[in-house]
Amino acid sequence: MASTSEPAGASADSGISGASDASGISGASGTYEPAAPVLEVRDLAKHYPLTRGVLVKRRTGAVRAVDTVSFALGRGETLGIVGESGCGKSTVARLLVSLERPTAGTIHYRGEDITRLSGRALRAVRRNIQMVFQDPYTSLNPRMTVGDIVGEPFEIHPEAAPKGDRRRAVQELLEVVGLSPEHINRYPHQFSGGQRQRIGIARGLALRPEVIVADEPVSALDVSVRAQVVNLMESLRDEFGLSYVFIAHDLSVVRHISDRIAVMYLGRIAETGTGPEIYGHPTHPYTQALLSAVPVPDPEPREGRERILLAGDVPSPANPPSGCRFRTRCWKARERCAVETPTLTVPPDLPGPAAHPSACHFAEERAVVEAPP
Ligand SMILES: Nc1ncnc2c1ncn2[C@@H]1O[C@H](COP(=O)(O)OP(=O)(O)OP(=O)(O)O)[C@@H](O)[C@H]1O
Ligand code: SF4
Ligand SMILES: [Mg+2]
Repeated sequence: MASTSEPAGASADSGISGASDASGISGASGTYEPAAPVLEVRDLAKHYPLTRGVLVKRRTGAVRAVDTVSFALGRGETLGIVGESGCGKSTVARLLVSLERPTAGTIHYRGEDITRLSGRALRAVRRNIQMVFQDPYTSLNPRMTVGDIVGEPFEIHPEAAPKGDRRRAVQELLEVVGLSPEHINRYPHQFSGGQRQRIGIARGLALRPEVIVADEPVSALDVSVRAQVVNLMESLRDEFGLSYVFIAHDLSVVRHISDRIAVMYLGRIAETGTGPEIYGHPTHPYTQALLSAVPVPDPEPREGRERILLAGDVPSPANPPSGCRFRTRCWKARERCAVETPTLTVPPDLPGPAAHPSACHFAEERAVVEAPP
């Protein structure tokens, strides 16, 4: 099948601009700006109300699942979003595909703020921004055949369905993701985990979207098949001119597929940059800890590299720490960190590839012993 558009890519060193605002994140400034963004997210927030009472519900607070997150996704680009459980990754994913409405902020797709759309206009956007879910065991209806699952988007969006033979179109999709078209009448339980995720990917591709938001697409799979599914997604991106938001717990999972990475902590972006910047020159203590999270015997410890162990749990997003949200687990925390929220901005005194956005008052490069993939 032909590519839908030519991936323009994005230059790694372009467009980090200006000083940051006071929101605790860069807002319109301080972030990397791809040359041709397909999605632009600005100051996105999702707060879930906490209530008490059975008959009369009283609001007692809010879970700040996502709090002023900003990023842009270039055409043909893969943005990896990484962070521990509960940091807001899936909430960002649901907001991007319009499964939920944000509390604040904007998501521009092709120059239009999709958070304000409804009805037909929203349906059209949903078609172009599709989701691939984490768990291929629960996200596929066990009572539907593979053909019905992959072809379901054609029923939901008949305006985007192929004009001719839909069954043939589904078989083509199965082929594209490496499955046999003859298995169109089989049920999900007749496939392995990796094959099921291929079915989920085929469904995500059916409407020829421009953007795919993949929420931990390989986390539920055996380690042995993860690379195959990631490689498949990579080749589909190039073949169909897709742009990906690729979510994972672990920095090693997104390493090869991502052009850029955003590291999230407790609803915010802690650090963002290109692969070489994040993996080779991390400046935020949280990224440094994530990179060295799994202690490994290192037969030849490289000089100057250290191993950092991330202690404690992520605090509740209903009651995040004041100032820097990472301060309760940060070995570098000082007084300033409790009173002043660091902005996601390029530290002015860091050289070369270390000069990328980091939300730390004391950002500095630190070579860490990396966990194995
Ligand atoms: N509908 C909801 N109502 C209340 N709180 C919610 C809701 N959805 C998510 N949360 C909370 O928001 C926070 C972020 O959740 P989210 O699922 O986005 O995290 P995540 O990074 O995807 O975690 P995981 O890695 O475990 O999938 C969590 O504290 C979660 O409990
Ligand atoms: S701002 Fe302070 S607490 Fe936060 S990451 Fe930097 S040093 Fe640690
Ligand atoms: Mg999640």
